[in-house]
Amino acid sequence: MEKAIRIYKNKPIYEYTLCNEYVEVSALNYGATITSIKTRDKNGEMANILVSFDEVDSYFTEPDPYLNALVGPVAGRIAHGKYIVDGNTKQLSINSGDNHLHGGQTGISKQIFEVKKIEDEDAQILRFSLVCNHDLDGFEGEYNYIIDYILEGNSFSIVSKCIPEKRTIINMTSHMYFNLSGDLKTSIENHGLLIPAKNKAIICEDGYPSAIEKIIEESAFDFSSSQSIGNNYRKGNKEFSITRAFDTAFLLECNSPIILNDSESGRILKIETDQRSVVVYTANYFDDKLILNHGKKGYPFCGVALETQDIPNGINIDAENQKVYDSNTPYIQKTTYTFDVE
Ligand code: GAL
Repeated sequence: MEKAIRIYKNKPIYEYTLCNEYVEVSALNYGATITSIKTRDKNGEMANILVSFDEVDSYFTEPDPYLNALVGPVAGRIAHGKYIVDGNTKQLSINSGDNHLHGGQTGISKQIFEVKKIEDEDAQILRFSLVCNHDLDGFEGEYNYIIDYILEGNSFSIVSKCIPEKRTIINMTSHMYFNLSGDLKTSIENHGLLIPAKNKAIICEDGYPSAIEKIIEESAFDFSSSQSIGNNYRKGNKEFSITRAFDTAFLLECNSPIILNDSESGRILKIETDQRSVVVYTANYFDDKLILNHGKKGYPFCGVALETQDIPNGINIDAENQKVYDSNTPYIQKTTYTFDVE
C-alpha cells in the first residue's frame, strides 16, 4: 500500500503510479488528479509532459487552473447556471462571472475517490470510484462514478462512467495540461496542433459558449492541418479580447485524431475520443504565483489543455442533440492518448 502523502478533510491522500517501459503515469485519489506523465523524447530521455505543481499541496490550495484534474459532473460553463430538462428549469451554482463552471465547489476535481489497482498481462489499471451528491451546486440526486486510468503499451486511456440517480446532463473531461518539451523546457507556442474540426463554439461577451459557427479557413482557429499554436494565436481574433488566448470548443469531425507535436523533443501525442468536441485552453490566466515543474513559474502558453468532452453549454445551444442521462442511461466516455516520437 502506498504511504499517505497528506491528510485532507481527515482522509489520507495517496499517489498511485502506473509504469511500463514507455510511460509512467502518477495520480492522486484527490480529484483523480494526474500529477505527471513521463514519456521518452527522440533521444530516449524520460521527462514529464504535463504541467505539474512542484508541491502536492498546491493541488489543494490552487483549484482555479483545475490542473490535471478530472472535471464533472458538467465541464465548462453553463450560461447563467440555467438549463431545462423535460420542461423543468434547473439552477446551478454560479462560480465564474454569471455562469456555472466545472461542477462548482462539489465538482469531482475536489472529491476524494476510492482507488483500486488492477493488473493483467497487457494493461495496468487504476480504478477510481465515488458515490456523492452535488446538492450544494444544484445538481439533484446521487452520482455514481467509476473511472479507469488504463496504461497499455504506449497508450493511456481514460474511461469515465457515471450513473446518476435522477435525469440530468453530464459532461466530464480530463483537464490535463500538456507541454511536450518535457518539464516546461519551452512554452507550447511552437507546438504543432492538428484538430479535425470545421466548426467551433462562439464565446459571447459573458464568457460562455453561445452558438456554433464555421471556422474561417486560415484564421486563428483553423487547425485542420497541423499549425503552430503561437503562429495561429498571433493571427488574432476578436474573441481573444474576452478569453485572452485559446479557450475554445472545437467540434470534432468523426474518427480522426487530434495531434499535438513538438519537433524539438520529437514527441507526438495522438488523442482519440468518442466525444463531440475538444476544448483547447492555453493556460491563459497562469501567472508566477503558480510554482510548477522543478521550480518553474506559471505563464500563459506554458501548457495546453485538450479537454475532450461533449459541447460545453450544449444543453442551451444545441438542446435537440444533447444527451440526458438517468439510472438506466449511464454516461460513458473513452479517450485514448498515444505517445510516440517522430
Ligand atoms: C477551462 C475553461 C477556462 C478556465 C480553465 C480553468 O476548461 O475553458 O475558461 O476556466 O478551464 O482555469
